[in-house]
Amino acid sequence: MELSIIIPSFNERENVKIISGRIIESLKNQDCAYEILFVDDSKDDTPIILEQLSKEHSQVRYIHRENGRGLGTAVVEGFNKSIGKKIIVMDSDLQHPPELIPLIFQRLKEGTDLIIPSRFVPGGSDGGLNTFRKFVSWTARTIGRISLKRMRNITDCTGGYFGLNRSILHNAQLDPIGWKILMEILVKCEYKTVHEIPYSFVSRHAGESKMSMKEQWNYLKHIAKLIWNSDEDRRFYLFCAIGALGVGVNLISLYILVNFLGLGDLRSSIIASFIAMVNNYLWNDNLTWKKYKKKSLKRRFFQFPKFLIVSVVGIGITALLAQTASWLDLNIFFGQFAGIVAATLWNFKANSLWTWSN
Ligand code: GDD
Ligand code: MN
Repeated sequence: MELSIIIPSFNERENVKIISGRIIESLKNQDCAYEILFVDDSKDDTPIILEQLSKEHSQVRYIHRENGRGLGTAVVEGFNKSIGKKIIVMDSDLQHPPELIPLIFQRLKEGTDLIIPSRFVPGGSDGGLNTFRKFVSWTARTIGRISLKRMRNITDCTGGYFGLNRSILHNAQLDPIGWKILMEILVKCEYKTVHEIPYSFVSRHAGESKMSMKEQWNYLKHIAKLIWNSDEDRRFYLFCAIGALGVGVNLISLYILVNFLGLGDLRSSIIASFIAMVNNYLWNDNLTWKKYKKKSLKRRFFQFPKFLIVSVVGIGITALLAQTASWLDLNIFFGQFAGIVAATLWNFKANSLWTWSN
């Protein structure tokens, strides 16, 4: 079987027949074996209609789950129960135009691992949502793209229309919370190429949206879980949190050195910074890059100096940006802040590539 089209459905009695017809029509000139697999959690009579459809069309199959467990798990079930080498996932309510299927299939056959029809690349449009939903959707997408590195370059990472090569699923443990199965795939699968192509998201043909506040909350939980599961993202956030902790350690040390030990200001400041660096180093060695903790004494001996060198360069970067801001007659705090952000990025990258590399 060359292609499986997986369609989650929940109370879509007016839509399943039409979408099946349009898919069959759009693939009629393609000489390929394909299946249309509905994974249905409906509480209405959709399963009866699906039963009829599967009798009328040999390509149509369906699975009906009695105790519906949501959109994400429905798609995973579809992955497990389908057999096509290429897979396309789409909603059942006709908001995703089936006429795009031949192009997605074509691109998958040409070797792209993951094809994402996008509303937000030139040529695409998001006509199917009202202004409020557009705003909520934009906010959700932006949070996702900032939080997870693998989603940063994907303009439509929260949609439910995409195509993939089955082979990218092999080593991934998919365990989505809620709806955003594409996000789960982007973060957990190993793929070489991912491309977006434009499409127009159209308004719902019939029935109603099942999006809810609970799903928005699930989305945030899902992002948190993905960060924890993804080595590169988890490390970055741990590194930032430890950095913030280090600022606290720095200030408390300074307070103790000046007030209780009576050391001079300059000396106290330098010692406090050094204590904070040791603090950060130990946390990062035992938490952030735990897996890379060095066994041999010799390598460990060089690790702390490396961390110090990276940090000193970071301080240099901060100073440079602060100085640039004041040359440009901008507020120094603005420059210092930009410098801290740049130095954090530098420190993280340099430490992962050098200090804690293999
Ligand atoms: N099996 C199953 N189980 N299917 C479900 C469930 C469920 O619990 N909940 C929803 N679905 C199906 C619907 O029948 C529909 O085919 C599809 O999933 C999307 O649900 P809609 O209710 O139509 O959601 P939407 O249009 O508001 O959201 C869609 O567009 C968004 C774009 O902003 C989805 O594709 C979202 O993933 C997408 O982000
Ligand atoms: Mn919809």
